[in-house]
Amino acid sequence: MENGKTAIVTGASSGIGMETAYALAGRGYRLALAARRGDRLEEVAGRCRERGSPEVLAVPTDVALEEQVGALFARALEAFGRLDVLVNNAGYGLFQRVHETSTAEMRAIFETNFFGLFFGCRCAAPVMIRQKGGHIFNVSSIVGRRGTPFHGAYSATKFAVIGLTDTLRVELAPHNVRVTAVLPALTDTEFFDHSVRGRGARQSFAKFKRLTPADVVGRKIAAAVGRNRPNMTFTLGGKLLVLMSALSPRLVDYGMRQYYEDLRKRLGLSS
Ligand SMILES: NC(=O)c1ccc[n+]([C@@H]2O[C@H](COP(=O)([O-])OP(=O)(O)OC[C@H]3O[C@@H](n4cnc5c(N)ncnc54)[C@H](OP(=O)(O)O)[C@@H]3O)[C@@H](O)[C@H]2O)c1
Repeated sequence: MENGKTAIVTGASSGIGMETAYALAGRGYRLALAARRGDRLEEVAGRCRERGSPEVLAVPTDVALEEQVGALFARALEAFGRLDVLVNNAGYGLFQRVHETSTAEMRAIFETNFFGLFFGCRCAAPVMIRQKGGHIFNVSSIVGRRGTPFHGAYSATKFAVIGLTDTLRVELAPHNVRVTAVLPALTDTEFFDHSVRGRGARQSFAKFKRLTPADVVGRKIAAAVGRNRPNMTFTLGGKLLVLMSALSPRLVDYGMRQYYEDLRKRLGLSS
């Protein structure tokens, strides 16, 4: 079922990126998959071929390194000759109070979650402008709309992603290039294992029993290609948080303070 279209997916070795790659493969896309773990990428690439992708490149890439992102795009464009979809998804979490976050930790998370994504946008935009079409998906988070306790640095990167995405959407609209911010809420992936100080992150979310399955997010991203969707949210809780944060930030602060105190005590941390 080749559709002649091509996509680059970053963070494709697990979770949301992997599921998005599978969903695009099922729709016949030729794919370039990027992440640091080459062995995992090869496995995902094999499964993409089984699901119908006519051509899959597994390109080990650290998105925090600009030259590696440049090399990823060069390889994909050399093989495919065009780029229809970019899913800028690579990222990780950091579970740490703001006043205990080191400068090195803050810079490192921005290097991946923000700069990695920015490098991808900057490589994709000229190609899509030339083609007069394309779609960029930037994966932010619901905490890119409202900061939550212990996720200050992570939230800051995801707010930055939304700011960049909102601007890029307007700037690329005259070129028929769509740009969508993806705002998952708690999703069932390896995210918490990969988070810096992930044990705390797992505990913080232990009481939330219902995680969104990653394949639901991946399928919805693939189905949204070509559609004019500024943002995508996936849960009622996420939509409510965004709405309440706009309508009554003080009320949301009140709820967050209860949550913070409860979590702080459970983790045995002083105030
Ligand atoms: N799970 C959630 O609850 C949730 C909620 C909101 C938003 N998100 C966002 O969704 C995106 C995907 O996360 P996930 O939940 O699917 O978690 P995940 O399973 O941990 O996937 C993260 C992916 O990013 C890749 N990655 C991390 N750092 C990278 C780097 N420097 N260069 C290249 N690839 C890198 C990882 O691959 P390698 O380790 O192989 O490099 C992996 O493929 C992230 O941006 C995350 O912030 C997740």
